[in-house]
Amino acid sequence: MILESPLITSACASSPFNHPKADVILRSSDGIDFRVFKLFLILASPFFEAMFELPQPAVGTSDDTKDGLPVIRMQEDSKTLDIFLRFFYPSTLSEDPSFESLTDVMAVLTAARKYSLDLLERKVRKALVNPKFLLAEPLSCFAIARHARFEHETMIAARYTLREPLIPARFLGIDLITASDLLALLTYHQKCTIAVEPLLANLGWVQSHYVNSHGCGWLFCEKLAKGHQRNRRDTDGCKRSTEVEFELWNTPPVAWWVTYMKKTFKILKDRPTGDNVRAEAEETIQNVINTGCKDCAARVKLNMTKFSDLLTLKVMEATALIKLELEF
Ligand SMILES: *[C@@H]1O[C@H](CO)[C@@H](O)[C@H](O)[C@H]1NC(C)=O
Repeated sequence: MILESPLITSACASSPFNHPKADVILRSSDGIDFRVFKLFLILASPFFEAMFELPQPAVGTSDDTKDGLPVIRMQEDSKTLDIFLRFFYPSTLSEDPSFESLTDVMAVLTAARKYSLDLLERKVRKALVNPKFLLAEPLSCFAIARHARFEHETMIAARYTLREPLIPARFLGIDLITASDLLALLTYHQKCTIAVEPLLANLGWVQSHYVNSHGCGWLFCEKLAKGHQRNRRDTDGCKRSTEVEFELWNTPPVAWWVTYMKKTFKILKDRPTGDNVRAEAEETIQNVINTGCKDCAARVKLNMTKFSDLLTLKVMEATALIKLELEF
């Protein structure tokens, strides 16, 4: 009895995998036929080299031939095959594929490992630390890299997870890592948070950066033109802070800067990374331009941009010392 195979009328993949002179067909799990050249597969992978050394079924005698070519059934779906077969081809015949999503990255990584494609594995490693993925899905990058035991990529991804809240939403790849891996990441995140706290508790770094209060007149809303500070009335400028712990050189800074610091450090408590520092500075700049005194409005952009760079650097320095405690 002849069983009708559901894949008997399988579709052909698109260029360059529809070549009439191809000498083997790889059929994806979803029934797409990729006509490829054995030579490219053999050159790229010891797995395929061994496979093609086995006797091939005689043409026309089995279900596993089509158009006179042997058909090899693959476990990978057509999307994965398309990406990973492109790596086998010389770049003159096919453009190097790019990964559209981390799902693709995961599928190709699995295939790369299975077929011992070291070069392809290296491309996957690179994709995992591509800012496109790191910025959008740092936790997934972490999980995939950790699962694959890519130490360098795991460390980089961990750093980017600081952009997410300490307790993240569910993410792609969470089931690839163990509870110990996740615990190590949470511990790392929390240690980074704690490392940043002294920057608010002790403003000594602000004082040492500006040396003295004349080095940062903007922090005290001093008049731009020299010589006016002394007889200036409080009502002329922006309001000063009343909070003693924010005083610098025993002098209260402008209230808007204190507001900036408090807001920024509140966010840093959950997401200890420099990005927040800059985003909040942008908001402060707009506020001061709209509602601050003339002097502050005129210089806030330059001064706060520089200041947020300084704070970003301090946050980075503080968290750079924290180690992710994972064995590889
Ligand atoms: C603050 O801004 C003013 C005007 O833009 C500039 O002259 C001054 O050097 C800046 N000070 C600091 C410490 O950035």
